[in-house]
Amino acid sequence: MRAPILQVKGLEKRFPIQKGWFRKPGYIYAVNGVDLTVYKGETLGIVGESGCGKSTLGRCILRLVEPTGGTTIFDGKDMGQLNKRDMRAVKRHMQMVFQNPFDTLNPKLTIRHILSEPLIAHHIPLAEREDLILKTIEAVGLSMHHLSRYPHEFSGGQRQRIGIARALMLRPKLIIADEPVSALDVSIQSQILNLLQDLQEQFELTYLFISHDLGVVEHIADKVAVMYLGEVVEYGKKHELFQRPMHPYTKALLSAAPVSDPDERADRIILQGDLPSTSNPPNGCKFHLRCNSCLEMCKTVAPKLQEVEGQFVACHLYGHT
Ligand SMILES: Nc1ncnc2c1ncn2[C@@H]1O[C@H](COP(=O)(O)OP(=O)(O)OP(=O)(O)O)[C@@H](O)[C@H]1O
Ligand code: SF4
Ligand SMILES: [Mg+2]
Repeated sequence: MRAPILQVKGLEKRFPIQKGWFRKPGYIYAVNGVDLTVYKGETLGIVGESGCGKSTLGRCILRLVEPTGGTTIFDGKDMGQLNKRDMRAVKRHMQMVFQNPFDTLNPKLTIRHILSEPLIAHHIPLAEREDLILKTIEAVGLSMHHLSRYPHEFSGGQRQRIGIARALMLRPKLIIADEPVSALDVSIQSQILNLLQDLQEQFELTYLFISHDLGVVEHIADKVAVMYLGEVVEYGKKHELFQRPMHPYTKALLSAAPVSDPDERADRIILQGDLPSTSNPPNGCKFHLRCNSCLEMCKTVAPKLQEVEGQFVACHLYGHT
């Protein structure tokens, strides 16, 4: 069996806020006790509605925001125990690809300059830099002559290729891709997804792939974690999860995904109500106000994530929680 590259245990991120007329101090529970294990070379898809904590989870793992609880073990190292120098060395191996690279590519810099920045920051010798830049720009399907151009001279798909090239410059082990194709036309999306798959093989990458689009996740992921209000409610191998979803929320999400066959629409589960507030989540199972299978105990007792037939699910309908 492959070794885990990332183990997240009880990861938590609370943002302090002031609530209501009296500005009472409170918290947004953006990520609330997430456990995940990602093995080398695999792609874990993270799905869930807007605001469920997908981006915050990714940012906490990369330490772009400081978690308020839990542990993250990356490549055998406990991220919470590292000094500044060691943290810098570890962070080199974890990179992020963003939804809209235009926001993160400095418009005043040429592509060569943009790709050099991470190399300079990590003291890669000058003699190695040009070779790394050339190899990487070609690996993402662009060429040498693109290096002297500026970000605005590229299409959305090309800009995402540059965003991916920048993430690849330091030859990371883990890439967290946060909605990397959501801003692109459907025809371009599949090109970028195929590129990510090719690069995964070529550079032995592990991906955490965040997306609200189940079709995209089905295309690229090996395993999938479904998040609801900061928690993982179902987690397991993609094929099992898509063919035999267990959690009522996963069932509703899958039934709401676009289908090619109009007859399938008849079986759609319509989610009742809106996503509850992350600063005042319901007691018991956080999904109980919207669940069409809610039991009496669901209103008071929070279900724990447990293994059921090789998958993991947090729901009182299964086993003993
Ligand atoms: N810096 C912050 N300060 C306060 N609250 C925040 C901050 N960042 C995120 N949140 C809140 O944390 C919750 C989770 O947000 P997050 O961006 O992680 O969700 P998401 O699943 O990525 O959503 P989307 O699909 O819209 O990108 C939301 O309620 C959000 O408003
Ligand atoms: S624990 Fe209860 S309310 Fe929550 S998803 Fe399962 S059946 Fe629904
Ligand atoms: Mg997000």
